[in-house]
Amino acid sequence: MQNTISGFSKLKKAEKIDWLLSTYFSDNVNSRTTITQYWNTDEKLQKLHDEFIENTISNFYLPLGVAPNFLINDQVYTIPMAIEESSVVAAASKSAKFWFDRGGFKAKVLSTTKIGQVHFTYHGDTERLRRFFNIIKPKLINETSHITKNMERRGGGILDIELKDKTNELDNYYQLHVTFETLDAMGANFINSCLEQFAKTLTNEAQEFKTFTSVEKDIHIVMSILSNYVPDCIVRAEVSCKIEDLKDKDIPNPKAFVEKFKQAVSIAEVEPHRAVTHNKGIMNGIDAVVLATGNDFRAVEAGVHAYASKSGRYSSLTHCKLTEDTFTFSMEIPLALGTIGGLTTLHPLVKFALQLLGNPSAKDLMKIVAVAGLAQNFAALKSLTTTGIQKGHMKMHLMNILNQFEATNAEKDAIVNHFKTNTVTHSAVVEAIKALRNH
Ligand code: MEV
Repeated sequence: MQNTISGFSKLKKAEKIDWLLSTYFSDNVNSRTTITQYWNTDEKLQKLHDEFIENTISNFYLPLGVAPNFLINDQVYTIPMAIEESSVVAAASKSAKFWFDRGGFKAKVLSTTKIGQVHFTYHGDTERLRRFFNIIKPKLINETSHITKNMERRGGGILDIELKDKTNELDNYYQLHVTFETLDAMGANFINSCLEQFAKTLTNEAQEFKTFTSVEKDIHIVMSILSNYVPDCIVRAEVSCKIEDLKDKDIPNPKAFVEKFKQAVSIAEVEPHRAVTHNKGIMNGIDAVVLATGNDFRAVEAGVHAYASKSGRYSSLTHCKLTEDTFTFSMEIPLALGTIGGLTTLHPLVKFALQLLGNPSAKDLMKIVAVAGLAQNFAALKSLTTTGIQKGHMKMHLMNILNQFEATNAEKDAIVNHFKTNTVTHSAVVEAIKALRNH
């Protein structure tokens, strides 16, 4: 077949690039430069990145920005954010500043339980399986002791193992549903190692269980894997203040503002199309901090969106409450994060980001990340219900358009100045560049 290759992963990096360039690119020289200009001159650092994944050919940069002035539980943070979208860090910073003057954010971890499952099939009497499970449960736990001893010394480990009969949903399907406390580790490797050991013990013990028929002894493991749905690993973030204190240059009438703001949240609570975009805005903040701190943003995304659908209808993650005189805006989300293990000690920028946050515990990081999400949503809804989103968004996007046109520093200064008093649209910027260059 055209363009296929076998043994690619075994080639040297230079050979991989040669193959790519000769197979897919006609302008070999330019494409090679595109790849190599992102290589780090520090060979050790480059090797570190090369070895994070297979078949590394270059590094893919994202800007690392910071949003200062986040007051969370009376402590001030500067939050690191890795993200490409122009307006996200600016919005976070704006929201942080706004709430800094109004008591800041409050955040609380409500639970920290992680979940893993051994999925298996069993053909036979369910009651006999249950008796078998109750007998071998201590052994299931004991036989993981070589994996759990360090975690247990620190106060974590396996919380419980349940046998779940899922045969109503799928013929012969059962689970070991296991709960874990993984403390400051995200725990994926720990959980998966425990699960694979449970699977071994389960099948071995079944073979030896005298009262099983020969068919019953033949338990088949389908898979052993953690769940990224962690509805018992929840953090709550909240802002609240007197309605009259919300007054600022964009909120001349706080009472009218909160009514409209609440309406916007209510729409996201009942309307899935809006809820997805509303929650996407929350994830702008969450993913950026999750990524900067070396955590698995895909796991967080999957888990958060599943949680947003827990009622059976996809809905808003944030909620707004109004009393006669008080505005409260809050969110509860599942976040399985780690501040030890994984990339946290390997990636120099991740280490830096965690240091910037004062080397938080996983619980503290959960609070910080949730606050970044809530702040982002507040900023988006504030803009959407007052000035409209494009004003701030295009202001930040202006630099991208100027870079597309390879504007010089002098041209950038002149055009940024021009748009201080004019509305930024793509065509208005193009016109302004043309006018400047024809001058
Ligand atoms: C854009 O990245 C995010 C927003 O669309 C979020 C929202 O609509 O709430 C502005």
